[in-house]
Amino acid sequence: MLFQRRTHTCGELRESNVGESVVLNGWVDTRRDLGGLIFIELRDRYGITQVVFEPTFNSSSHENAKQLRSEYVIAIEGIVRKRPEGTENNDFATGTIDVMATKLIILNEAKTPPFPIKDSVDASEDIRLKYRYLDLRRPSIQNNIILRHKMYQVVRKYFDSINFIEVETPVLMKSTPEGARDFLVPSRLHKGKFYALPQSPQTYKQLLMVAGFDKYFQIVKCFRDEDLRADRQPEFTQIDVEMSFIDQEDIFEMVEGLMKNLFEDIFGKSLSLPLTRLSFDDAMEKYGSDKPDLRFNLEMKTLNSVFQNSSFKVFQEQIMKGGIVTGLLAPNCGNYTRNQLDVLTDFVKKLGAGGLIWIRVKDDGLESPTVKFFSEEEQKNLIASLNAKSGDLIFILSGPKIKTLTMMGNLRLEMASRLELIKPDTEPKLIWVTDFPLFEYDDETKRYYAMHHPFTSPRLEDIALMDSDPSKVKARAYDLVLNGNEIAGGSIRIHSAELQAKMFNVLGITPEEAEYKFGFLMNAFRYGAPPHGGIAFGFDRLAMIFAGENSIREVIAFPKTASGMSLMDDSPSNVDEHQLKELHIKIKT
Ligand code: AMO
Repeated sequence: MLFQRRTHTCGELRESNVGESVVLNGWVDTRRDLGGLIFIELRDRYGITQVVFEPTFNSSSHENAKQLRSEYVIAIEGIVRKRPEGTENNDFATGTIDVMATKLIILNEAKTPPFPIKDSVDASEDIRLKYRYLDLRRPSIQNNIILRHKMYQVVRKYFDSINFIEVETPVLMKSTPEGARDFLVPSRLHKGKFYALPQSPQTYKQLLMVAGFDKYFQIVKCFRDEDLRADRQPEFTQIDVEMSFIDQEDIFEMVEGLMKNLFEDIFGKSLSLPLTRLSFDDAMEKYGSDKPDLRFNLEMKTLNSVFQNSSFKVFQEQIMKGGIVTGLLAPNCGNYTRNQLDVLTDFVKKLGAGGLIWIRVKDDGLESPTVKFFSEEEQKNLIASLNAKSGDLIFILSGPKIKTLTMMGNLRLEMASRLELIKPDTEPKLIWVTDFPLFEYDDETKRYYAMHHPFTSPRLEDIALMDSDPSKVKARAYDLVLNGNEIAGGSIRIHSAELQAKMFNVLGITPEEAEYKFGFLMNAFRYGAPPHGGIAFGFDRLAMIFAGENSIREVIAFPKTASGMSLMDDSPSNVDEHQLKELHIKIKT
């Protein structure tokens, strides 16, 4: 079959080309046969051009075009013509011209696709993923992939311009402690031993600092075997960064510079710097989340001082136990019906709350089954501290601090959605969350876990607390939050072997275990480790937000389903018996 190379793409021709003889290659997007005339819209990733087959203009190509069906791959030769008046199509950049075909070569036929190659497709996601190569032909998905490409360029250009070096780190490595489950790769040569796929290049980038590469970055795949959600994939991409001889402020400045470039070049938005900073404690108390969405104002209020001497048993008990009483004002929701309030009560109960206290604010005071337990003064102070007005609705939850704040934070998001506080033109909100606790205590296993990872440095003034009260130690850790999504996280690291050993000790990791798991890193620290710190961005999450999508699957060329399957190539899949044998593996049924 003869192939004819294109002279232009399908998005390129304009009125200035009228009269030219051109060759186009592409896929048949739509075909209309109007008896005497056949129109096709020819598509490639650059756009769509209308091609006309007219028997009086060229009868053999018109005859030939009768065979054309959607998704056939063709080459056409023809003459560019200005479209007759009234037939222009403003949807396409090429909409004022069409091409009168003189020649048609069918390069390949195509089966009827399982769903139309259109932006608005109502096929299920499973079908789209099974035929991802067809899904990827849809312009909206192509634009997402092109947006990713542009992001890579902005990122590489930025880091190169400020002297960072891109270094690739191994994919087969020793297990790293990012807190998720590892994907393991059995070794053929070393019976019974396994590599782990990196949950992140954390240890390598710290070793690169010891090696003297004081400014490192990498756009890198990471692998975590964890429960999947709209913003989580088992393999995802990070922009990973590490710097030496710096403190937190240098990281902030570097990150803010990158974000400004991405906002301007990719998102088409301006970004005013420096970004707002919010401590973890404030984020939790005001917004009930360590990744608060600040695109709207609803703010929670801690009410412990209002109810400090309350005779209401529920609050009394919680305040005595070190718990929290938190309130949220829903403006102008005082007219919510019992039914609506029951739905919201169920909403928080599903999150683990015992119940939800709601109070209507009226001209003549508060109205609720619960207010009878509050003194006059408590009622007055409650109204004052929430700045409540007649017609408003107050919600109150009490209980253990973080758990209760988190539940109220969820109710805050739910109310924002009910009140439609986020509009299509609402400005994005990018902020820092800082001063995280270094440790989280787990009641079940009765031990501390690193809230970030075990290489995160405590605030230097808190080191003594590591022995006396680890729960009070703050970390030199920070997250970057965009519209309520955690899009990056990092920390200043521990660079002394002694402090690292102390950290492992609090985490209940024995010196032997530490030596076995991280001996290589601790040993490196004994050879002159510079002070260092870094951060990693969730590249897919950033791309998702920039593309205006709700799931990172929409910005990943070949994503996995929620159960970790690749429906297209049907993986994970069984392997041959001899492959298992070589790897010294036996599958128990
Ligand atoms: P962390 O674990 O916070 O930090 O990861 C950094 C960022 O990666 C994104 N992310 C994910 N995106 C998609 N799917 C996932 N399963 C997933 N898990 C995480 C998030 C997150 O903010 N080594 C440290 C960084 C450092 O300390 O420098 C790390 O990996 O957007």
